[in-house]
Amino acid sequence: MAQEDVFKKLIAHCKEYGYVFPSSEIYDGLSAVYDYGQYGVELKNNIKKYWWDSMVLLHENVVGIDSAIFMHPTIWKASGHVDAFNDPLIDNKDSKKRYRADVLIEEQLAKFEDRIGKEIEKAQKRFGAAFDEQKFRETNARVLEYQQKWNELHTRFSNALNDSNLEELKQIILDYEIVCPISGTRNWTDVRQFNLMFSTEMGSTAEGALKVFLRPETAQGIFVNYLNVQKTGRMKIPFGIAQIGKAFRNEIVARQFIFRMREFEQMEMQFFVPPGTELEWFEIWKDIRMKWHRALGFGDNNYRFHEHEKLAHYANAAVDVEYRFPFGFKEVEGIHSRTDFDLSQHEKFSGKKIRYFDPEKNESYVPYVVETSIGLDRMFLQVISASFHEEEVVAANGEKDIRTVFRIPPVLAPVKLAVLPLVKKEGLPEKAREIIDNLKFDFNCQYDEKDSIGKRYRRQDAIGTPFCVTVDHQTLEDNQVTIRYRDTMEQERVPIEKVREIIAEQVSFRSLFEKLK
Ligand code: GAP
Repeated sequence: MAQEDVFKKLIAHCKEYGYVFPSSEIYDGLSAVYDYGQYGVELKNNIKKYWWDSMVLLHENVVGIDSAIFMHPTIWKASGHVDAFNDPLIDNKDSKKRYRADVLIEEQLAKFEDRIGKEIEKAQKRFGAAFDEQKFRETNARVLEYQQKWNELHTRFSNALNDSNLEELKQIILDYEIVCPISGTRNWTDVRQFNLMFSTEMGSTAEGALKVFLRPETAQGIFVNYLNVQKTGRMKIPFGIAQIGKAFRNEIVARQFIFRMREFEQMEMQFFVPPGTELEWFEIWKDIRMKWHRALGFGDNNYRFHEHEKLAHYANAAVDVEYRFPFGFKEVEGIHSRTDFDLSQHEKFSGKKIRYFDPEKNESYVPYVVETSIGLDRMFLQVISASFHEEEVVAANGEKDIRTVFRIPPVLAPVKLAVLPLVKKEGLPEKAREIIDNLKFDFNCQYDEKDSIGKRYRRQDAIGTPFCVTVDHQTLEDNQVTIRYRDTMEQERVPIEKVREIIAEQVSFRSLFEKLK
């Protein structure tokens, strides 16, 4: 099945099974805004825990905060967001649709990459085990031609971005004959800059209200609290401050489900280091973050680093962690060496000293910062895309069937365990409830007595529940239950008192954290 169709199925599945709903659906929705349902919120909370604990529990020099969404408007002037937090936009005059010029060009680059990928795939099939990809890339005429086209475009694109050359961006779009996907025409307007911040008004006085912004990143809440945390926590550099919270951007192109939203959540950590050591720490945090992603077991080849074409106004090094989504490799997380830009700017705009006194060197300085910034919603999308499977299974009566299963890692799964009485009479529901009453303090459990046992298993597979425990008549006699494993569909008879131990081992954050060592 084409990846595009798989993705559509995933979106429909998320809605059908209470993971993600379009916002304001009964009013026909609100573009690029989504609500998380009863299972979605549990998965989100588990991802947050994985991130938060891996930062704050596992690093004794990282602490957390929770700063307000509203902040003094001068913060956004100081940070550069008022002047420079822009996307280059272009309109198609025929369809009246608006696009990000850089995204249109990136899609053209991706087309060349796809063509190279297809040539490699064909050759792989033809040559089998003897295939040498490196040699093929270096010698195959078609691959070389596409690679050269990619290089030419990439160079022009990077230069245009670095010089903020909007005319050149438009010229690239014209030269590469990029058409509007809706109208199919090349009737483009000029490229213009568009600020992504939402604003609103705070208070209402006769003189007028204060214009405030909805934060476009949580990072600034950390910078303006640097001194508070450093002093009250007696933190010694190097140290980090972590935060999870909402961010808002008026995205021009909001597409691909929860990948690009106008309201989303970030998990950010700013690590304060002595000047001159930031690039070393940048490499260290790159490694730590890649390990964190890979520990979930979605396949090491599905991740890569992507160097930024254009460094943000505050950075001297930046890299994205990209994951192979059904729509291609895309950014999940950014790791940035932000220099001393933010703290210095806040010193300048606030008139307050924001320094660190280093007792060993007997000097004070503005710390440099390495940032790790991951979108919670994109991480959620990574988990569900990697976990969504449709597979052929053979039922007990020999008939073939399709099973839809969310193979979410048990540690992140919203519901850990479903307890199912074989029939809803003869004391079985009571026994099932007794098991839940005992386990609900440890795990998120669900009771289900409706429909045949087979249907109930399928329902739990679709939700992603890793364990089902079935209570039958025999249970009343021998205190044993059947535990059924989601991924293998294997079943095992175990004493009730062993259930907790079996599940606890599989859903333990500790085992996951040990992989991060
Ligand atoms: N503080 C740095 C910063 O905000 P960014 O690369 O603009 O850097 C960091 O954003 C992460 O936030 C991205 O890697 C992505 O996961 C997430 N993100 C950014 N814009 C988003 C959007 N519109 N919808 C969902 N997630 C978004």
